[in-house]
Amino acid sequence: MPVREMKIDDLPQVLQIQKALAFQDWNERQFIAEITANYALCVVYVAAALHTPILGYAIFHLMGPDSELLSIATNDSHQRAGIGTALLNAGIAHLDFENGDKIFLEVREGNTKARRFYEKHGFEPYAERKKYYADGENAILYVKAT
Ligand SMILES: CC(C)(COP(=O)(O)OP(=O)(O)OC[C@H]1O[C@@H](n2cnc3c(N)ncnc32)[C@H](O)[C@@H]1OP(=O)(O)O)[C@@H](O)C(=O)NCCC(=O)NCCS
Repeated sequence: MPVREMKIDDLPQVLQIQKALAFQDWNERQFIAEITANYALCVVYVAAALHTPILGYAIFHLMGPDSELLSIATNDSHQRAGIGTALLNAGIAHLDFENGDKIFLEVREGNTKARRFYEKHGFEPYAERKKYYADGENAILYVKAT
């Protein structure tokens, strides 16, 4: 299985993926806080044969019946090849869902790629937060129930 838990040593590659995609702006300290938090699950997708083997990452908050997907990203040059799906499925498997448990997320209204990805995986929009982001873009809130 190419998905494993994120380590602090992975952060240079993780930060590089984030920077190239320019979809969020977490610093190293914020990633370390997630890696070390006992309520968070941070995973990376690793292609061992490559020189820079980390091709994607995802961060979940595990909060009993209501968990949250905080962030998911696939390296720009490896998108649409199943990496995001592998990361999402690994997180969901780890959540050990019981019937009725939910996973929530929020996404920029204009982030079509991510919205199609979430919808393909059974997430449904349930609310909109007007001007939620600093640049004034709306957020769409999604939920997936088991
Ligand atoms: C969203 C994201 C993680 C998906 O990762 P991925 O590795 O490409 O996903 P997968 O290959 O597993 O899944 C592909 C599915 O995602 C959706 N998708 C991915 N790229 C797409 C595109 N360019 N246009 C439309 N849908 C797209 C489709 O549903 C696609 O299924 P299909 O190929 O059968 O149509 C990736 O696009 C990404 O990193 N985006 C930038 C970061 C981001 O916005 N993250 C989410 C906000 S936190």
